[in-house]
Amino acid sequence: MDNSKTVVLSGIRATGQLHLGNYLGAIQHFVTLAQDPSNDCFYFIANLHTLTTRQDPQQMQIDLRNIVLDFMACGLDPEKSTIYAQSSVPELSELSWLLACLTPVSGLMNMHHFKEKKDRLSEEGLKANAGLLTYPVLMAADILGPHANLVPVGEDQHAHVEMARELAKRFNHHFGDGIFPIPNLLEGEGIRVPGLTADGKMGKSEADSAIMLNDSPDEVERKLRSAVTDPQRMKRSDPGDPEVCNIFTFHHLLSEPEQIEWARKGCTTADIGCVDCKVVVADHINKILTPIRARREELLVRGMDFIDEIIHEGGLKARKIIAANVKEAKEKMGVPSY
Ligand code: ADP
Ligand code: TRP
Repeated sequence: MDNSKTVVLSGIRATGQLHLGNYLGAIQHFVTLAQDPSNDCFYFIANLHTLTTRQDPQQMQIDLRNIVLDFMACGLDPEKSTIYAQSSVPELSELSWLLACLTPVSGLMNMHHFKEKKDRLSEEGLKANAGLLTYPVLMAADILGPHANLVPVGEDQHAHVEMARELAKRFNHHFGDGIFPIPNLLEGEGIRVPGLTADGKMGKSEADSAIMLNDSPDEVERKLRSAVTDPQRMKRSDPGDPEVCNIFTFHHLLSEPEQIEWARKGCTTADIGCVDCKVVVADHINKILTPIRARREELLVRGMDFIDEIIHEGGLKARKIIAANVKEAKEKMGVPSY
């Protein structure tokens, strides 16, 4: 590995098709960062993390392949970036254990993600598994394993990256300065793409709430037509409040400043209706998705076997690098392989 390069790393769970939130929050950055020759990029499918919430073995494997296909449709080149499955690198689980021994349980119990998931499960009468509690530790292993310097993720993952930073500092403090680089987030706040039908972020769980990367233009328009806006704006003649409207958030993410101003003014004066706004947003989204759809079609012609090959090759490459780093960490902690 070339040490002068910036190691960029990010992962996506193998849960269903990718959506516009994944693209705007994460994958578009993966693509831009991969084009810079001073970066060495690692992008992986976090299928071990997927096990914390979902266990259908067949479906996970289908999702994994489709995500790699989508990565490439979005513009990632497996010749330039290392694309792999988390489960191809068993040393990550080993590193996760080493890091778990440096992690206070209270910190894990207080993570917003854990509390939210635990509460949601308990509403259904279910119990949180230990994997959910230690989720951020495995994520820290993913990040520290290849000595990542930069981790492009959406806003919802920032707290997890912060924990990886703390663990890197703690490890270095106890076992030697400079062993793990301290990973950084991308500059800026990180974005959060809202869902279309409810509060909260766009996610994979509710079909009509998310624009999938493989939705057709008609599907995009249909989903936007039924998207919620300012709930107080009942009639076309009612002025609306853009600050409480999800569609206005999409303008912020996708429109030019003049168009944002057009939407704000038109909404607050009732000069334009919600449909007018939605048509513009659907158009922006379709402009992003058109080249991705076309590229996916081209790739699909080659069948799925070449995707398996990419995942296999990427796994070998990532494992070689990560295994050497984990070996060093074990030795520093006094638990080498004898
Ligand atoms: P999901 O939350 O849909 O299951 P993941 O958890 O696998 O997706 O997230 C993969 C990447 O996409 C992460 O970097 C995450 O921060 C980002 N991401 C997911 N949903 C959104 C969203 N609505 N807005 C911005 N980024 C998002
Ligand atoms: N937890 C991340 C998510 O749900 C996925 C992930 C796993 C990840 N390991 C990672 C992201 C390491 C960045 C770096 O989106």
